[in-house]
Amino acid sequence: MKGLSSDADRRALSALLKSSALINSSLQISDVLDSAMKVAEEFTEAEASSVLELDEETGDIIFRLARGKKGGFVRTKRLKLGEGIAGSVIQNGRPMIVEDVEKERRFSNRFDKETGFKTRSLICVPLFIREKTTGALQVINKKNGGPFTEEDLDLLTALAQQIAVALDNAKLYERLEENFKLTAEELKATQQKLIRSERLAALANLVQGVSHEVRNPIMSIGGFAARMKAGLGKKHKFHRYLDIILQETSKLEKLVKDVKELAGMHTAYLQPANMNNLLFTAIENFSPALSQKSIHLETDIEEGLPPVTVDKAQIVRALKNIVQNSVEAMPSGGTLKLRAREVDSHIQIVIEDSGIGIDEYELDSILEPFVTSKTTGAGLGLTMVYQIVMNHQGEIDIKSRGGRGTKVTLDLPLNLQSQMEG
Ligand SMILES: Nc1ncnc2c1ncn2[C@@H]1O[C@H](COP(=O)(O)OP(=O)(O)O)[C@@H](O)[C@H]1O
Ligand SMILES: [Mg+2]
Repeated sequence: MKGLSSDADRRALSALLKSSALINSSLQISDVLDSAMKVAEEFTEAEASSVLELDEETGDIIFRLARGKKGGFVRTKRLKLGEGIAGSVIQNGRPMIVEDVEKERRFSNRFDKETGFKTRSLICVPLFIREKTTGALQVINKKNGGPFTEEDLDLLTALAQQIAVALDNAKLYERLEENFKLTAEELKATQQKLIRSERLAALANLVQGVSHEVRNPIMSIGGFAARMKAGLGKKHKFHRYLDIILQETSKLEKLVKDVKELAGMHTAYLQPANMNNLLFTAIENFSPALSQKSIHLETDIEEGLPPVTVDKAQIVRALKNIVQNSVEAMPSGGTLKLRAREVDSHIQIVIEDSGIGIDEYELDSILEPFVTSKTTGAGLGLTMVYQIVMNHQGEIDIKSRGGRGTKVTLDLPLNLQSQMEG
């Protein structure tokens, strides 16, 4: 637009300002495009309009917006670069005014044929960002049947600049939003991990405190019950009760012993070790149980794994606890898979069984002390595993579905020593 001499110029400017205000006021890009193109249609007295974009991934042209009677149909379509007027405009980066499409060999009547819409005349203007054509906008069919004018072209050219920027910003915003979502998710996951480890540490403390307090009373109850039993006549009816007391106290004594063992896991004595040997040590005592329960063992241990810096006894204990659970989860046989490999300066150990699995709602709590589904278990096995993994700055992940087996993954960092010193 040169000066503000004519009425048309003034109207053009006001239409443009109206649309640019809209573009700046909202991040809802499709609403913005729709409003802007509505203004463009009003100004140019067009029946329909569309905004097209070059899809960087496929190289095709897609419709960001299609207004007019058949807009809904057109919106789902794609053009090839160079196809039709819009395809040529995007390819050449030059606008086109077409007075009569029947006299324009570059016009493609593909969509008209499919929709029954009749295109007569149009203006198509390229969209540029940083000197690259990113798409085009077009208005179709002047309502009074006449041709589109140079003024129409001026307005659309100015509008195209605004829309190109708006589309570019919208894409940038989408990308930012995507990144932000990722960061927020990571933050949440880390936070949850932290809460869980704090919670487990607090629970373990409590359990250790209580267990220390009840240790002596349990010993006396057990001791006195044993003495009473020894002093009673053979047929006395209290033998039955005393047997129950003795059974229960010995269970409690075992529990106290297990808790004490857990407490002892707080410090680790790190030294270089060979993971293959540790895995072998952990599994070797299970061979009789495996063959007795017809559990098939599959091992896949990467050769020449680098040495790890670990507390050997603790790692063996952790592996044993996990394998023990797997064995207990396969009372009528199955497969136990043991894998170890090096991944990104970690040693990854996977222990997978085809056993009864863990229900989803239980999965969150099984690392906590005393969570057990067994009458024989204390529910401390995985608590200990967790403690040991934390001692090694590692990670534990347990995946399972009821009835479908369980997969425990341990990740132990290889450069633990340097991390601890640093
Ligand atoms: N491989 C597994 N398959 C099925 N359930 C498992 C498995 N590992 C752990 N669980 C569930 O997690 C609970 C807690 O395990 P753990 O801490 O070792 O205690 P415990 O074995 O003494 O019950 C188990 O009672 C069991 O319900
Ligand atoms: Mg267990």
